[in-house]
Amino acid sequence: MKSTRAVAHSNIALVKYWGKREAVPGQPDDLNLPAVGSLSFTLDRLRSDTLVAPDPRDSFILNGEHHADAPKIFRHLDRIWRATGRAAPRPTTRVSSTNFLPTAAGLASSASGFAALTLAAAAAYGLDLPNKDLSVLARRGSGSAARSLWGGFVRQHRGGDGGDGCYAEPLFPQDHWDLRLLIVHTARGPKSISSTEGMQRCRATSPYYQPWLDTSEADLAAAEAAIAARDLSALGAVMERSCFKMHACMLASAPPILYWNGRTLDVIRAVWAAREAGLPGFVTSDAGPHVKVLTLADHAEPLAAQLRDVPGVFEVDVVAAGPDAHVEILA
Ligand code: ADE
Repeated sequence: MKSTRAVAHSNIALVKYWGKREAVPGQPDDLNLPAVGSLSFTLDRLRSDTLVAPDPRDSFILNGEHHADAPKIFRHLDRIWRATGRAAPRPTTRVSSTNFLPTAAGLASSASGFAALTLAAAAAYGLDLPNKDLSVLARRGSGSAARSLWGGFVRQHRGGDGGDGCYAEPLFPQDHWDLRLLIVHTARGPKSISSTEGMQRCRATSPYYQPWLDTSEADLAAAEAAIAARDLSALGAVMERSCFKMHACMLASAPPILYWNGRTLDVIRAVWAAREAGLPGFVTSDAGPHVKVLTLADHAEPLAAQLRDVPGVFEVDVVAAGPDAHVEILA
């Protein structure tokens, strides 16, 4: 095996992924099939940089900290090794990764992390696959990782019930449209309930889960058309709707799931007030209390300045569209 390095950038879903399909009997139980497709914006600067190298034992070092036991990582290495079709046991492997992400931002580090790990391990083990198949492998590690293989705007397809057609692909490149995403931090510390647990509870108990599933493909088509036309109002409308449908679905679960805090709502209202006053921005929010605001490059700094003045806001990052992931063979 070779030593390799891969860098993949984080992404934010503009049309949300929320919900996993139940495993189909007879199929591997780790297909990790999303219940809906999704569409994301890849982030500049915010990235994972991952080295994969042969070593006498398996290890995972994240931001300089050793984790002797990292089952998700080692299972992902097994998955990638199995895809090579080799009968020999997988070579023991050291994975060393650094996340360049704002701390405690509730940003999915597993998206960029598993995208970088997939690319680096595939190259290290000599696995030469089409991008589509790499995206399927990345998705099996983490649901949103498949979208982090590319820059710009990326779509994860739901595909058929058996998993066919469930892959990600780039829609529009990094330079298609000069947008900014403002990441508005409204809390510190880890989130209260994991996304996987939240998704399961929604599927099992929320009366809004089925309507959430039923309306997703139309949102994806509308968002894709709005991005093609560089129409911020149209994209913003569908993006906010997708976000609020997802959170409504969570709120109607039993017991309810509420990721937001009071500042989350204050920021949403501040964005809407700025928009009314002629400074266009559109909100989205994930499984955490932070707010992400999509706007045009020219409006990013004035809008960020207003949001930094909302009481309780810790920080506002201004992030442009990011590039494709890349991999290099070191030795
Ligand atoms: N989870 C969080 N960050 C990660 C990384 N960089 N690689 C793999 N898994 C992760």
